[in-house]
Amino acid sequence: MSPFLLTRTLPVDATDAALRADVLHGLTRYPKTLPPKWFYDAHGSELFEEITRLPEYYPTRAEREILIDRADEIARVSGARTLIELGSGSSEKTRHLLDALPALHSYVPVDVSESALRGAAEALLAQRPELSVHALIADFTGGLALPGTPGPGLIAFLGGTIGNLLPDERAVFLKSVRSLLSPGDALLLGTDLVKEEKLLVAAYDDAAGVTAEFNRNVLRVVNRELGADFDPDGFDHVALWDPEHEWIEMRLRARRAHAVKIPDLDLVVSFEAGEELRTEVSAKFRQEGVRAELGSAGLRLDQWWTDSGGRFALSLATAV
Ligand code: SAH
Ligand code: AVI
Repeated sequence: MSPFLLTRTLPVDATDAALRADVLHGLTRYPKTLPPKWFYDAHGSELFEEITRLPEYYPTRAEREILIDRADEIARVSGARTLIELGSGSSEKTRHLLDALPALHSYVPVDVSESALRGAAEALLAQRPELSVHALIADFTGGLALPGTPGPGLIAFLGGTIGNLLPDERAVFLKSVRSLLSPGDALLLGTDLVKEEKLLVAAYDDAAGVTAEFNRNVLRVVNRELGADFDPDGFDHVALWDPEHEWIEMRLRARRAHAVKIPDLDLVVSFEAGEELRTEVSAKFRQEGVRAELGSAGLRLDQWWTDSGGRFALSLATAV
């Protein structure tokens, strides 16, 4: 059986320091914000998996349809011997790609969620014991150091997670991905597409309330990690479409005026009744925008595939 390696590229206290800095910065400005990467502790990762099975949340199903249709073509064009996946989560959809790549030597899933990485590697190695899996606990926005593995490499960034970065963060991120590509390597990028507002809002405000719990989970993470006393039930889940930026915004709206203590930061944060804390943007894309953003980072859009409903796109790009 091939080895399973799990590497934490940053010491645990670096994660603590990053959370402290983000909470201090985000909760002492107006409007208040928290970055979405803190949703994903073990419970948040499970809630996200539950979201992917909701009737309203179409992106996972749409992207899976494209992967099933195009996996052979992606395998042939890329000839990948190493698949690096950023924000890999459960790696569930990735199976379609892995199955199409019989000559694959290494799979390198990268995620901030250790529980998701462990679960994914265990399930994957049960099916593909010959595969070398080197999982990285790392922030994909933080200058990645990848293990030495055989080329050509394919970097996959699926799920539309790129939309959770703000435009300036995306520009920096795509340049860093470009710098990881050697000649012959490629990037496979999943992007959710602009569509009717009603469908978009429903995907982020499901009837069963799973997305609301996912949204509130960030408060539970701050409570546990920084000793804060947020009452998650004191906040309403808000999902709205911003037509100017073409993104969904998730917010938590305080039901009443109150103060939250965050002892580890020596901080008290006041909320007005109705005040909103932005927890996520989820940008939706058009082909020309994706082409332009890739181009600005020194990447060329070679292939653009959508699902039959035109809801989601997979792009294959190479370095210029
Ligand atoms: N790719 C999967 C999972 C998407 S959920 C899919 O398509 O279904 C987003 C994933 O990205 C989560 O597993 C989360 O833990 C991870 N993630 C979010 N921000 C991250 C960051 N800055 N660095 C690394 N992983 C991150
Ligand atoms: C991971 N990411 C692409 C999801 C999204 O759709 O923006 C996270 C999510 N937020 C609410 N539901 C799902």
